[in-house]
Amino acid sequence: MDVRGKVAIVTGGGSGIGRATCELLAKNGASVVVADWNEAGAQETVAGIAAAGGGAAAVKVDVTKDADLERMFGFARDTYGGFDILHNNAGVTSGNPRWPDTPVDQWMRTVDIDLIAVIRGMQKAIPLLKARGGGVIINTASLAGLFGFQADPVYSAAKHGVVGITRASVNLLPEANIRVNAVCPAVVRTPLVTSGLDALDGAARAEAERRMNMMPMLPPEEIAGAVYDLIRDDTATGIAMGVSLNDTRRVVDPPITLPVTSGDANALPRR
Ligand SMILES: NC(=O)c1ccc[n+]([C@@H]2O[C@H](COP(=O)([O-])OP(=O)(O)OC[C@H]3O[C@@H](n4cnc5c(N)ncnc54)[C@H](O)[C@@H]3O)[C@@H](O)[C@H]2O)c1
Repeated sequence: MDVRGKVAIVTGGGSGIGRATCELLAKNGASVVVADWNEAGAQETVAGIAAAGGGAAAVKVDVTKDADLERMFGFARDTYGGFDILHNNAGVTSGNPRWPDTPVDQWMRTVDIDLIAVIRGMQKAIPLLKARGGGVIINTASLAGLFGFQADPVYSAAKHGVVGITRASVNLLPEANIRVNAVCPAVVRTPLVTSGLDALDGAARAEAERRMNMMPMLPPEEIAGAVYDLIRDDTATGIAMGVSLNDTRRVVDPPITLPVTSGDANALPRR
């Protein structure tokens, strides 16, 4: 899809990967709805885009709330007449204490934001895109959705779910002209990774910073570039695109497939 003149909604657009994606899409001629529960962050993204001559508008949204998602799609309709691209990108990690000591409410929040909100967003977007003649959905998963990420197992489980629903959505292309793909970044230098420093000071902070600076991290612009290319590539669907250092991209195929086509599987009787 050529994004010029198109409308994109980016959740988590107030920071990090989401902000970089908003900026790249706007730079290439899309109008962008910057959706985030951090209103100040979303407004900052919009201001940056406006200063560069692009078009964007902010909407305050908690992606775990159905009513907020409805409002987000309504905002895109009222502001730009609808949308063509949805980037389900808002996400969090599980924080401390680490698994398995994480309180239930805390790890449920990870699943709610990182997986359930993606499913909700897709379910609401699909009929709207279908009515518009098609569109593109990009879900931000993670390399942690492709291997067992021991540092945050619940995050890893949620991101595996995002990869799963993405791969299971290939039927939407022939049925509704909707392509669904996932971007799966390695470690990216954003507040998601660096804000843990805020709780530390003195020697503990210096040591954490030293360790963090030894870790190879991607700039968010590299992930935005991968998202943009997945939007542009009209053949890409059901793909989990790993993105590692120096913009090394790799389509990661599922480890196993059913010995039937997905069409056959759809025809199986259900109880
Ligand atoms: N940074 C990394 O190393 C990395 C690696 C792989 C995948 N990811 C994924 O990339 C995505 C973006 O993360 P980032 O690294 O840019 O982090 P970030 O913290 O910079 O940005 C995340 C944004 O999501 C917003 N957000 C969180 N929960 C929300 C909610 N319930 N409703 C609305 N907005 C909400 C935050 O306010 C923030 O602006 C996430 O899905 C994350 O899991 C990040």
